[in-house]
Amino acid sequence: MESMLTGKNILIMGVANERSIAWAIAQSLAGQGARLAFTYENERVEERVRKLAEKIPDAVILPCNVTVDEEIDSLAAALKERFGVLHGLVHSIAFAKSEELEGHYVNTSRAGFALAHDISAYSLVAVAQRMYPLMTEGGSIMTMTYLGSVRAIRNYNVMGVAKAALEASVRYLANDLGQYNIRVNGVSAGPIRTLAAKGIKDFNSILHTVEEKAPLRRGTDPAEVADTALFLMSSMSRGVTGGVIYVDSGYNIIGV
Ligand SMILES: NC(=O)c1ccc[n+]([C@@H]2O[C@H](COP(=O)([O-])OP(=O)(O)OC[C@H]3O[C@@H](n4cnc5c(N)ncnc54)[C@H](O)[C@@H]3O)[C@@H](O)[C@H]2O)c1
Repeated sequence: MESMLTGKNILIMGVANERSIAWAIAQSLAGQGARLAFTYENERVEERVRKLAEKIPDAVILPCNVTVDEEIDSLAAALKERFGVLHGLVHSIAFAKSEELEGHYVNTSRAGFALAHDISAYSLVAVAQRMYPLMTEGGSIMTMTYLGSVRAIRNYNVMGVAKAALEASVRYLANDLGQYNIRVNGVSAGPIRTLAAKGIKDFNSILHTVEEKAPLRRGTDPAEVADTALFLMSSMSRGVTGGVIYVDSGYNIIGV
């Protein structure tokens, strides 16, 4: 039987190590026959990303710091040469200074606000802008978001505001790119222990609250997020665009 993603070329941005949500997604997509390209942020993480990506047959590995337009241009040129056509983009990138991820949001600095928004929200636009012309057979773009976009969550602060901008971008991009049969969606994951999560003060207490209160009474397994990404990258989700799918054991519906 043919796999769900046979013949599909998909770009994965945001693997830093084996705990990265992007790595779980990569495994799920590769398991269904996708051909993958990975990007790494800089030389500091290059070797780790290479070691992981090399486990996936035929993977392409390229540099891309999303704050540098020229690096995104070079990435698009390299993918055009290697793949010709791109079918999917997984954006799993965020950053804020750790001092902005504790205490009160009211103390956010101008520079901290700009940096968090540049890397965590604008980068989706910058990348989509250069990748959609490669999606000549239609495509699927997805990004990773979190409940802090719509609720005030302790210590999440400026990242929550950046995620709100990211989710609004998903809607605008979906509206722009739908005419080319390119879909754009977000996946809102429950808390997962990763490198990025380490930057958030008292992350463990958020994790434990979810395990205790979520309808499913457990946290989020990265493999669950990965399988939702598989759905979004496949034709199974062909009628879905501009939305945010929660993969969080149902925590987002809980009131008091
Ligand atoms: N871990 C969680 O609890 C959780 C929950 C919901 C959403 N998310 C989101 O999932 C995504 C992935 O995070 P993660 O938890 O897997 O952590 P992670 O640290 O493994 O991934 C974050 C990635 O962002 C990349 N990155 C940061 N700045 C970059 C830049 N300038 N250029 C290119 N890449 C850059 C890092 O290299 C890293 O690969 C993020 O958008 C995060 O906000 C995480």
